Amino acid sequence: MPEFPQPILDFLSRSPTPFHAVANLGAHLEQSGFHRLAEGDDWGGLDEGRYFVTRNDSSLIAFNWSGDAGPGFRMVGAHTDSPCLKVKPEAISESEGYARLALEVYGGALLAPWFDRDLGLAGRVTYRDREGRIGNALVDFDRPVAFIPSLAIHLDRKVNENRSINMQDDLPALLCTMRGNEPGFPALLEKQLDAQGIGDVSGVLGFELSLYDRQPAAVVGLEEEFIASARLDNLLSCFAATEALIGNSARTNAVIVLSDHEEVGSSSASGAGGTFLRDVLGRICGDAGTLARAVSHSMLVSVDNAHGVHPNYPDKHEPAHRPMINAGPVIKINHNQRYATNSETEALFRHVCEQGGVPVQSIVVRSDMGCGTTIGPITAARLGVRTVDVGIPQLGMHSIRELAGVQDQDFLVRALAGFFGCSPWPF
Ligand code: CO
Repeated sequence: MPEFPQPILDFLSRSPTPFHAVANLGAHLEQSGFHRLAEGDDWGGLDEGRYFVTRNDSSLIAFNWSGDAGPGFRMVGAHTDSPCLKVKPEAISESEGYARLALEVYGGALLAPWFDRDLGLAGRVTYRDREGRIGNALVDFDRPVAFIPSLAIHLDRKVNENRSINMQDDLPALLCTMRGNEPGFPALLEKQLDAQGIGDVSGVLGFELSLYDRQPAAVVGLEEEFIASARLDNLLSCFAATEALIGNSARTNAVIVLSDHEEVGSSSASGAGGTFLRDVLGRICGDAGTLARAVSHSMLVSVDNAHGVHPNYPDKHEPAHRPMINAGPVIKINHNQRYATNSETEALFRHVCEQGGVPVQSIVVRSDMGCGTTIGPITAARLGVRTVDVGIPQLGMHSIRELAGVQDQDFLVRALAGFFGCSPWPF
């Protein structure tokens, strides 16, 4: 088993929210020679080079630009968000002498694993400074500040047979015992901003904060073949896309688009259902005709983790489509267009993997089960770009701690690097 690179573990542990993931990847891209663009600036005609741009601090597009849109774009898409618990506006309530944090469930979270964990708190805070200007800052209470304790089994003897979780009543997290002089939540955030060296704050006016598991990412298993962490779906894909783009020495037109809000349907200004990718490609190409011609020569690999077969529940998978961890990326197929893969894009991805010596698997859901979806069909529909949906297999998707394969991550980077380097459509 190859040694798992420490930078991925660090990235996972230091990216508790999409804001932090985008900040970390942006810094990584800048160190690798990419120029930061702002959407509000005049880009003129872009010279060939390497660029990136963010929207809402939580979505990022980075690209190599050859100076010629003719060959189209090799694009890789992934999402920066993960299901979690987000703090409600009136954040703190009192119960039985405890101060509790009110929480809203974001996305399709598996809730049971959130109990009995050491929880940190992180996200974006928007504040007014002493000159009356509005500014954003990322915050991270870099220590366990909250806890959701289970009810003892002695007080619920049937819990192992039929536990249900009520999102309103069961999730408020303990912050502290009340002593009567607690600051309000905005004051708590101001103190944290100050501790992080962000002075000059006259008031916190808004926040998007979520709880996260303090346990860092780790390589686990007897043979050290698994990686365990929060947010493997889909930060592993974001990291692989970024690595492949940075390594694209051929400097073909290569694009990565990492979008927020996939877990809640992608319909937002920064989500894959928004205008971000079309706006950026339009500005690179200059006019509608050039963009349409470029798109017809382009392809998107939409990367999002897939369900590996769980050895305790093999019947949840279609018998002939049971992806194994560490057996390579999975091509996702759903002819009802929950996935955007078609024969053409499946063939191209298989071809690229074959060329790079990367094994490939495929998945369809059981015919009697519903199928998930991802940014693939949404981006394909918005842009009219041919798309394949793929992802590395994992277990425990949407748990607070998920499991994937050490080798698969390497396979994925190699597959995406091969895709970025391949010749223009029709190849
Ligand atoms: Co996902």
